[in-house]
Amino acid sequence: MSRIKSFGPEVPPLPENAWVCLNHRFFGSDEIGGHCVVPKLEALPVNWTEIFGRDAPKTLEVGFNRGVFLQELAERWPDCDHVGIEIRRRFAWHLVNEIGSKKKQSNIRVLWADAKNVVQTIFAPESLSHMFITFPDPWWKARHAKRRLVDLDFARNIVSMLKKEGRVWVKSDVPAISEEISAALTACPELKGPIPFAQDDLPLTYRERRCLTQNLEIYRFYYEKTV
Ligand SMILES: C[S@@+](CC[C@H](N)C(=O)[O-])C[C@H]1O[C@@H](n2cnc3c(N)ncnc32)[C@H](O)[C@@H]1O
Repeated sequence: MSRIKSFGPEVPPLPENAWVCLNHRFFGSDEIGGHCVVPKLEALPVNWTEIFGRDAPKTLEVGFNRGVFLQELAERWPDCDHVGIEIRRRFAWHLVNEIGSKKKQSNIRVLWADAKNVVQTIFAPESLSHMFITFPDPWWKARHAKRRLVDLDFARNIVSMLKKEGRVWVKSDVPAISEEISAALTACPELKGPIPFAQDDLPLTYRERRCLTQNLEIYRFYYEKTV
C-alpha cells in the first residue's frame, strides 16, 4: 500500500463539519471537486463576509496537504481568515473533519479543487492579504513542467488577487522549482522580490519538517505587491 493510500480513508465531510467545506456552496455538492470544476454562477460573487461571519484580512494556501501549516497559521494569525485549496480529496476531507471535530468556530475554510481553475473566480481583485505556496510540486522533472502550479498565467492571477502590500510567500526544497517560481513572479512588474525570510517567520509545513530532519536546504522567499 502506498504512503498516500495509508494516510486515511476518504471520509467526506461529516454533516456537523460541513460548514468548514466550501464545495457544496461553490459546486452544488461535496462530491464535486478536484480537477476540471468551476464554481456555479449562483455562488458568485463569493460573499466571504457571510462565509466567515466577519470582514477580516484574508489569506490563501494552495496545496495544504495534511493542513499542519494552515492550522498553525490560523492560531498565530487569529485576526485573519484563511482559505485552503487542495486538489486531492482525501487531504481536503481530512482537514475538514479535523477542524470540524474541534467543535469550536474556526477561521479556516477548505475547498477541494484545482487552485488553477478556481482562484481567479472566487477571489475578487485585490482581496487577498497573503498567499502561501509551500513545496508546491512533487513533479519537478522538466517533462512535468506543464503540471506546475506557478507559471506566468498563475503569477498574473496572484498579482491580481493580492492587495497593495500583499505578499506571496514561497517555500521549496527544489532549486529548479524555486527558480521557476521566482522567474514567473519577477516577470510581474507590480511585485518586489524575491525577499528572503527566516524559518521562524511562518509555521513549518509537513514537507518542511521532513526536509529539516534530512538536512535538506530550503528556499524561502516572498514577493510584495507595490502598486
Ligand atoms: C508536495 S505537497 C506539499 C504540501 C504542503 N504544502 C507541505 O509543504 O507539506 C503539494 C501539495 O499541493 C497539492 N496541489 C498540487 N497542485 C495543486 C493545485 N493545482 N491545486 C490545489 N492543490 C494542489 C498536492 O495535492 C499536494 O497536497
